Amino acid sequence: MATLRFQFCFLILCKTITCCYCNICLPRNHAALFVFGDSYFDVGNNNYINTPIKGTYKPYGEAFFKYPNGRFSDGRVIPDFIAEYAKLPLTLPYLFPGYNRYIDGVNFASAGAGALVETHKGMVIDLKSQLAGFRKVSKKLRKELGDAETKRLLSKSVYLFDMGANDYSVFLSEKRRAYSSNQYVDMVIGNQTTVVKKIYKLGGRKFGFLGMGPLGCEPIMRALVNGSKGSCMEDAQLLSKQHNNALLVALKKLERHLKGFKYSFTNFYDLVLEVMFHPSKYGFKEGEVACCGSGPYRGHLSCGGGPVKDEYQLCDNPNEHVFFDYTHPTERAAQFYARQMWSGSAKFTRPYNLKKLFED
Ligand SMILES: *[C@@H]1O[C@H](CO)[C@@H](O)[C@H](O)[C@H]1NC(C)=O
Ligand SMILES: *[C@@H]1O[C@H](CO)[C@@H](O)[C@H](O)[C@H]1NC(C)=O
Repeated sequence: MATLRFQFCFLILCKTITCCYCNICLPRNHAALFVFGDSYFDVGNNNYINTPIKGTYKPYGEAFFKYPNGRFSDGRVIPDFIAEYAKLPLTLPYLFPGYNRYIDGVNFASAGAGALVETHKGMVIDLKSQLAGFRKVSKKLRKELGDAETKRLLSKSVYLFDMGANDYSVFLSEKRRAYSSNQYVDMVIGNQTTVVKKIYKLGGRKFGFLGMGPLGCEPIMRALVNGSKGSCMEDAQLLSKQHNNALLVALKKLERHLKGFKYSFTNFYDLVLEVMFHPSKYGFKEGEVACCGSGPYRGHLSCGGGPVKDEYQLCDNPNEHVFFDYTHPTERAAQFYARQMWSGSAKFTRPYNLKKLFED
């Protein structure tokens, strides 16, 4: 039977596949999607850990999945769309019981996580632990596919990152002023860069980054400031810009020093501001006020009975809003962002978009 399989493989498929000796014959250009990050990218990992940070109550998840499933959205989140555009199955959480089809990739992201281990410690899967998960996955792949095929798969695959927002929200709220904002940003970027280098060492070559959004303009921050329309929290805005500048410097350095390293960076700061303040240009009606929540801009953490126990309001049509809750995009906004990451022009996504990374 094994021989038969081998012969079949050999005779029929060797023109289009690379691996004829193993049980799984991958198409020559097959690439997986590996996802690292926080609640913008989490597709349910936090459902399987002991944490209060969970998107498992209504009205989260009602638009697409029809039930709350851990995504902080009314429906799908950015990596769901990226997987779709890459013609991959929906990327499942690493902790999903029984899941091990790693040849298509897997999602390690955890709501509340930061690049720093101290951020929400004990309640999240921090970036280092997400890397540990990937290390295990690469070992399993090696067992399943062999060294050469794994090397090829990992080098073709795309590693998607969204990290830092929680580090900065902790910094702002606890005022960890033992550090200057410059020192703190350097630590966040330093830890993220360390993880990128380790993935490179394990065989990764193509990396996608969602830059830092305009943190100070999100409903949660504007509710704190309670400012007039248009005013955002300046401290937070400054951190976002510092983060993006430092990340770009770090990525250019990696590109110079690591052979074959390629990256895609989406300027999420400018992108979100653009759609927030010109919503109708992009088919939205409300760019600033969240769909679900309470308080100014519906920026309190009360959506669905979150940690703040206010009575909350819910909009009729989430598709009209850019923000679903105090910080997270609606499904429709997530799709818009994913499109910009996937095939957007250099206006927001440089030097490669994700489509180009997948195709290369
Ligand atoms: C990573 O973060 C820790 C704090 O969690 C910090 O002490 C360390 O210097 C950072 N590493 C890098 C390379 O920046
Ligand atoms: C926010 O400002 C409005 C008026 O600008 C005021 O009515 C409201 O009480 C303020 N809310 C908070 C939480 O300070």
